[in-house]
Amino acid sequence: MPRIVRPTAYGTPDVLAVTEAPTPHADLDGVVVEVRAAGVNPIDWKLYSGAFHAVDDDQKDAAGIAASMPSLGLECAGVVTEAGSEVTGVRIGDEVIVYPVTAAYADYVTAPATSILVKPAGLGWAEAGSLMLTGTTAVHALHAAGVAAGDTVLVHGGAGGVGLMGVQLAAAAGATVIATAAERNHALLRELGATPVVYGQGLADRVRAAAPQGVSAAVDFAGTDEALDVSLELVADRSRIASITGSPRRAEAGIKLLGYGPGQDAGAEIRGAARGELVDRAGSGALRVVVDATFPLIEAAKAHEVGIAGHGPGKLVLIP
Ligand SMILES: NC(=O)c1ccc[n+]([C@@H]2O[C@H](COP(=O)([O-])OP(=O)(O)OC[C@H]3O[C@@H](n4cnc5c(N)ncnc54)[C@H](OP(=O)(O)O)[C@@H]3O)[C@@H](O)[C@H]2O)c1
Repeated sequence: MPRIVRPTAYGTPDVLAVTEAPTPHADLDGVVVEVRAAGVNPIDWKLYSGAFHAVDDDQKDAAGIAASMPSLGLECAGVVTEAGSEVTGVRIGDEVIVYPVTAAYADYVTAPATSILVKPAGLGWAEAGSLMLTGTTAVHALHAAGVAAGDTVLVHGGAGGVGLMGVQLAAAAGATVIATAAERNHALLRELGATPVVYGQGLADRVRAAAPQGVSAAVDFAGTDEALDVSLELVADRSRIASITGSPRRAEAGIKLLGYGPGQDAGAEIRGAARGELVDRAGSGALRVVVDATFPLIEAAKAHEVGIAGHGPGKLVLIP
């Protein structure tokens, strides 16, 4: 019987359970994909942490499980096993990237055919399954901050999943990239075209020293007060500061807020349109998907513990 990983309650990763579920069937305009790799993202543990939703005791069932626990896994890659009768151009056995999708922490997922992109043959499963969420987010952030050739852009959290995408895409666009990261990640960031600086006390001065010409835009993938403060200090035009993390201070600062919360721009159109180019770039090797670690599907809780604790550069990926 196929497996799926679900939270059984709101809480820490120990609430995740591997359960059996019947093999799903495709809608008329959809497909079933056997998952080969599912990207792990911070949103996955935030969804059941209670950070987004207060848990109403009245909505728990007798076993104490909240009525509508979120499904996990917002991106994956795999092999098409079934296609609906209205689907054209997709065949059983096709190797595909699936995004957007839900419930990808599983052996099989269903998705509308519009979520399917052909997986480049040279791209590994782990890389293909973890390219899209961070890639589309980085494209959106760089677009919102208006990053183009000739800019000097400060990337906060440059060695994270989104950060590594942002650094490479900004460098490819012709921008000079200054990226904040722990010292252990600096060699990788240099390799990818950025000048790395350590975050923490004195960050603004280190950025000034690395970019005497000045900083014209900033993208915040770290979400710290420091990232906000240094961006506001160094970038003259607030409309050229974009953050993918929400906080009351950010909302009041007059910067671009990107995401799915109140007052944030979800950027559905630009993120959707970015998928093809991301696949092409990753397939040609122009864009590197850095995979930090892979875990078997049944070790999803361990993957989340590693993600929450702070991990090496790049993506954590589940392999069913
Ligand atoms: N709004 C959206 O649409 C959207 C989409 C995707 C992600 N997000 C959010 O964006 C954030 C980053 O996501 P991700 O997938 O890139 O996470 P990630 O892979 O876990 O990366 C986070 C990075 O933050 C860096 N970091 C830790 N402490 C820091 C500090 N004090 N200052 C600067 N950087 C620091 C770490 O780098 P070092 O190892 O160098 O310390 C780490 O690599 C998460 O909060 C996520 O939920 C939002």
